[in-house]
Amino acid sequence: MSDRDVDPAIRSEGGELQIEQSLRPQVLEEYIGQDSVREKISLFIEAARQRGDALDHVLLAGPPGLGKTTLAQIVAREMGTQIHIATGPTIEKKGDLAAVLTNLAPGDVLFIDEIHRLQKSIEEVLYGAMEDYKLDLIVGQGPSARTIRIDLPRFTLVGATTRTGLLSSPLRGRFGVELRLDFYAAGELARIVSRSARLLNVSIEEAGAFEIARRARGTPRIANRLVRRVRDFAQVKFKSVTGFSIDKKTASEALSLFEIDELGLDSMDRKLLTAMIEKFDGGPVGIETLSSVLSEERDTIEDVYEPYLVQQGFIQRTPRGRVATPQAFTHLGFPPKTLF
Ligand code: ADE
Repeated sequence: MSDRDVDPAIRSEGGELQIEQSLRPQVLEEYIGQDSVREKISLFIEAARQRGDALDHVLLAGPPGLGKTTLAQIVAREMGTQIHIATGPTIEKKGDLAAVLTNLAPGDVLFIDEIHRLQKSIEEVLYGAMEDYKLDLIVGQGPSARTIRIDLPRFTLVGATTRTGLLSSPLRGRFGVELRLDFYAAGELARIVSRSARLLNVSIEEAGAFEIARRARGTPRIANRLVRRVRDFAQVKFKSVTGFSIDKKTASEALSLFEIDELGLDSMDRKLLTAMIEKFDGGPVGIETLSSVLSEERDTIEDVYEPYLVQQGFIQRTPRGRVATPQAFTHLGFPPKTLF
């Protein structure tokens, strides 16, 4: 892998992020779960390869940590091309985008994470690049300013977003393929946990892998982080760096110590639900109010915490705000809400 394949955050922070990168599957064959996404992308790759053309632009949507970057890297690898990685908010000037676009080789993948956070003016530069593979640049200033048109190679834009609703319609309409990633089933996550443990040289029993999987919020990134934290726990508990195998009991003890409960909710999930119940009698409560009560960014609540709590049936979104369900009351040990 060349240096430019690596996300700047991974390059600078090293450590954990580098490990996360090393656990990512490299080819579609190794990618576990998301069966319908995998099937479609495999078909589109095959078709583009047969035609000797670039893959059409792909929009990947879904909560963080489900494998959007990984899929983009796999697309490039399977197409035999390079990936160039950028993030919406860090493309500040049109020139930044122009520099990336003019560096592309035919068939390359340009991955833009958080694409819904691109500035409007920069988004507009993308339109022509996506549609006609042309880049219109204004050079000079005042009366001597003129537009030059640069031909770009046929490339594939892979955009990732946590919420398609935040994307402008002109941008969304220019993607030929739109795929949604969903939370993983526990069985799929257990296979990911076992695979990661193997790559990390950590011995784990099937029931141990399943216990981590069950409590990983349906998210591979969380599951892989928990594998490393449970390894730390086991290593200290068994007083050995290698001479242990993670069983169900060890995994369960470690996760409880890390304040991840039986259903996989972490302390922030519980704080959110508790605030809804204690301060607002279960709701409805507006997202801005929740954000200020919890001192947490609205976007983080909406993108990171809420989707899983909604999927698990702890929160309902209603036109009047968020409501904690009876299941949330029970799970957190509150008496059921009475109507009077
Ligand atoms: N690591 C992270 N996501 C994965 C996936 N979907 N399949 C296999 N390994 C993974």
